[in-house]
Amino acid sequence: MISDLQTNSESRDLSSGNPQAVGAAQPARQGVTAHTAAGEPFLVGENMTGGYGAGPDILHDCTIAVDRGEIAVIVGPNGAGKSTGMKAVFGMLNLRQGRVRLDGEDITALSPQDRVAKGMGFVPQTSNIFTSMTVEENLEMGAFIRTDDIRPTMEQIYDLFPILREKRHQSAGELSGGQRQQVAVGRALMTQPKVLMLDEPTAGVSPIVMDELFDRIIEVARTGIPILMVEQNARQALEIADKGYVLVQGRNAHSGTGKELLADPEVRRSFLGG
Ligand SMILES: Nc1ncnc2c1ncn2[C@@H]1O[C@H](COP(=O)(O)OP(=O)(O)OP(=O)(O)O)[C@@H](O)[C@H]1O
Ligand SMILES: [Mg+2]
Repeated sequence: MISDLQTNSESRDLSSGNPQAVGAAQPARQGVTAHTAAGEPFLVGENMTGGYGAGPDILHDCTIAVDRGEIAVIVGPNGAGKSTGMKAVFGMLNLRQGRVRLDGEDITALSPQDRVAKGMGFVPQTSNIFTSMTVEENLEMGAFIRTDDIRPTMEQIYDLFPILREKRHQSAGELSGGQRQQVAVGRALMTQPKVLMLDEPTAGVSPIVMDELFDRIIEVARTGIPILMVEQNARQALEIADKGYVLVQGRNAHSGTGKELLADPEVRRSFLGG
């Protein structure tokens, strides 16, 4: 239904300056492109050290990554630096050390907006929708970098989240928490990203809505868009994760496949409630 959420990337206005865009149409697990060195993840924030402004370092030699066709999940206690790590990968932090690479290209010096043009979609943890605008206006805002016809993408997002089609003329601020998160994810998908970063997409929603959101996220991943996400619901998130990272005090404490982390006695005891 949404199989071509990202396949129109050739027609994107900015694609002329973005030779990798066509590669985005490849199905998941198709292997590396000419731009990605063998064994290098599609998106990686590597050995990142840095903090906010002139403040102390929050991240310490922190590495997070996601590969093609994968869902990677970052978990860890409150204040561990999960959101800071995401912001660093998206270019909202000045790193003192470390690099960010997308499809083999060093993007460490790029602004967030330039990273969007390169194919990154980001849903921040807070203030991720325009509450005074309608659902549809939010989606239109998401497509700000595009000059081609955005309606097909909007239809795909309405197919993915049918409730948004029903409520498209309602102000987003009137929606439930789960519906707002759908708007936020939909907004990020409007740029037809090559990789999607989600910071706590299920924050504050009921377990049923959480399951539904996870299903939709898996559906997006199956269209070939790798997903790097932070989650409070660690156990459920690791169950759907190809790769997982446990961050503690800005450092990588544990990493492995979702299965490995779920089976790790130390991870279970410290982070999953036994
Ligand atoms: N804008 C900011 N300016 C200065 N310090 C900040 C800022 N945002 C976060 N911090 C600090 O960075 C540290 C890590 O915060 P961060 O929000 O990355 O943690 P988190 O793992 O995402 O937590 P949570 O699970 O609560 O979302 C905390 O000590 C926090 O106080
Ligand atoms: Mg956070």
